[in-house]
Amino acid sequence: MRTQVGIVGAGPAGLTLARLLELEGIETVVLESRDREYCEHRIRAGVLEQRSAELLRDAGVGDRMDREGIVHGGINLQFDGERHHLPMAELTGRTILLYGQTELVKDLIAARVDSGLPLHFDCAAERVDPEQGVIHHAGGTLECDVVAGCDGFHGVCRQSIAAELRVVERDYPFGWLGILAAVAPSMDELVYAHHERGFALLSLRSPQLSRYYLQVSHDEDVADWPDERIWEELRVRTALDGWTLHDGPVLEKGVTGMRSFVASPMQHGRLFLAGDAAHIVPPTGAKGLNLALADVRLLAEAIVHHVRTGSRDLLDAYSRTCLRRVWRAEHFSWWMTSMLHLPPGGDPFDLELQRSQLRYVVTSDAAARSLAENYVGLENV
Ligand code: FAD
Ligand code: DHB
Repeated sequence: MRTQVGIVGAGPAGLTLARLLELEGIETVVLESRDREYCEHRIRAGVLEQRSAELLRDAGVGDRMDREGIVHGGINLQFDGERHHLPMAELTGRTILLYGQTELVKDLIAARVDSGLPLHFDCAAERVDPEQGVIHHAGGTLECDVVAGCDGFHGVCRQSIAAELRVVERDYPFGWLGILAAVAPSMDELVYAHHERGFALLSLRSPQLSRYYLQVSHDEDVADWPDERIWEELRVRTALDGWTLHDGPVLEKGVTGMRSFVASPMQHGRLFLAGDAAHIVPPTGAKGLNLALADVRLLAEAIVHHVRTGSRDLLDAYSRTCLRRVWRAEHFSWWMTSMLHLPPGGDPFDLELQRSQLRYVVTSDAAARSLAENYVGLENV
């Protein structure tokens, strides 16, 4: 089989890229190792930057997102028993949209299936030849002008060019225990809570669905966390006078490790990496999904430019252009993580630095604006 662009992975990066190229009349084949059911029920991120939402709207997959997504103009930072509102829209002119990655993936898959274009589930890529542009998979081979490696952190594309890559990474000694609960969110906007027992985050998916997280150890066994223990810990870490955290049935729970990771350059030969295949951020700044979408926007532009004009300029500049944004997000995510999580051993010096930094953010207009502009996504980095 032959195609113009072979896309490995039907996550947000691969599916959005396929859609953007479809709109430009460029042929694509998407290969995905898991089945459709699995892809449509994997619960992950939930915050879309305004620019990500605009991209999806422009790609014609924003209808349900605009109906069901919830626009937020701010977040809350909580520490020392006080909750402070950070008015991001006022500070930056931009908002964020709460819409589950799971829902977005469903919308993208539905659009692809509707268009009748090839999307092969249960079809794992085994290896990519970056020079020839060949994807070897269980069912045979796919020859491509361009291969887009959108197969996430554990995929095979990055491994196929491992010898060409420089990897920079940092592990964190903690993880997040996340739950999805069938209860109305107890707050209007997200709450990032610093607490001596560890970080907690209150987020949401809809007026009936809450998404809450607790800092736990990186190798925490979810079996040690019966629902009652989770609710109790969330209550302690987010406690506020005159405010109650309501509980409800826990629909899903899981532990995610945290790491920072960048492989560069994000390209070699005909293979271009996008999203988690090339970089990982700890989730504290809600950047992972947004970075994946920003990568494929650039990759789609570069491929279209190449097909239309024959020029490789944008393709050649792809990694360099992406990495500017990636490293800004890496710094922001590391900074948010370091400011909000209980350091190993609860080091009192680190705790006082965190408190001081948090107080600075909520009392200085410049510091608040700096957090806010990174959170909503910087335009020119
Ligand atoms: P993925 O979504 O990982 O998609 C990659 C796709 O490739 C998958 O469908 C996979 O099945 C497929 N694939 C893998 N190998 C192969 C192969 N060999 N052949 C074919 N297909 C293959 N970010 C946040 O901002 N906030 C969060 O709360 C948050 N929570 C997360 C929780 C978890 C458990 C994880 C893993 C990530 C989380 N993230 C979060 C990060 C965010 O979800 C990712 O940044 C985002 O999914 C990146 O999209 P992607 O398309 O690059 O990769
Ligand atoms: C969510 C995840 C994040 O990592 C974050 O910073 C904010 C919200 C979420 O899943 O809703």
